[in-house]
Amino acid sequence: MILSVEQAVDILKNSGVVAVPTETVYGLAGVATDKIAIEKIFKAKNRPRDNPLICHFSSFNQVKKYIDYFPRYFERLIEEFSPGPISYLLNLPPNSPLLPATGGLSKVIIRIPNHPIFQKIAKLIDLPLAAPSANTSTKFSATTSRMVEDDLGEKIAGVVEGGSSSFGLESTIIDCTNENLVQILRPGAIGLIELKNFFSKNNLNVDVQQLSQTKNIPGNKYRHYSPHTQISYFTDLKKIPTGAKVAILGIEKDIISLKSQSLANSNINLINLGKDLKEVAHDFYAKLYYLDSLNLDQAFITPFLKEKSSLWLALQNKIDKIIIQSKS
Ligand code: TXA
Ligand code: MG
Repeated sequence: MILSVEQAVDILKNSGVVAVPTETVYGLAGVATDKIAIEKIFKAKNRPRDNPLICHFSSFNQVKKYIDYFPRYFERLIEEFSPGPISYLLNLPPNSPLLPATGGLSKVIIRIPNHPIFQKIAKLIDLPLAAPSANTSTKFSATTSRMVEDDLGEKIAGVVEGGSSSFGLESTIIDCTNENLVQILRPGAIGLIELKNFFSKNNLNVDVQQLSQTKNIPGNKYRHYSPHTQISYFTDLKKIPTGAKVAILGIEKDIISLKSQSLANSNINLINLGKDLKEVAHDFYAKLYYLDSLNLDQAFITPFLKEKSSLWLALQNKIDKIIIQSKS
């Protein structure tokens, strides 16, 4: 069901959960300090209870009501990049009212989304909102209200329409619990390059590290982003089994070049992911959703040309995970 902002706020105030748009992906929101709402989020997503939830705020001023200690660089950092597609891991004070959302952990991840509808809801409710991505656990995130309804429709009170998410990939997550070091726990549109530039421009003397994905942080131990359709890297048309119903996903240039080769095998669907990485990120999950709707035997993705950009790394990270999980 599509909800108005006012209806959503009303439901949230009464311990309900609703899906809300953000600029990264849709979130499944409930009041972060409300144990009943938190339980509903875990249940609707079928999410393991030891996988903590990001807490969303309308402004840094609101964050300061819940967190009393920040590293020396933090205020300038959050003013530079938030509201926006980035989340920060911080220490929580003892007995914090946010503990239901972190599952008892003494660290919390906070984010200030810049989507105007999210901002409106967060300001009206004036409480932090726990909001993991609005998808069943293990599935890829939803970037349109239609995708949310298809996946969670019967399990939640409804979704607030906010158009398709403008970035289309989950926020970057950085660990800000050290005074002199920031570690990237999940790559996203804001990455090593942007963060290093920021710290050096401001003479803050903070080192930035990209953590390898094998590090054991909550969230990395769980399966993520998987479409039903099995996906592997595309190498050669000859390797596609004859008679199999398949799709090849790729950046526009690769799809045009494949189209020009005579595809004797008419069972091949060509899916254009977009002309550049920004477009690819924006539509990535919607294209996976479309792929799954085709019910094919198998799919292939053409590798993206390596780029020195945070977006390339973020996309590559998602694709690698999908392919590894397809094999398991
Ligand atoms: O863009 C986003 O970040 C979206 C939108 C809705 O804001 N949210 C999102 O949430 O991607 P979720 O739950 O799908 O991914 C958050 C990740 C999970 O892997 C979770 O394990 C990790 O962050 N996480 C959350 N709180 C944590 C904490 N206190 N300590 C360590 N990891 C945490
Ligand atoms: Mg998620």
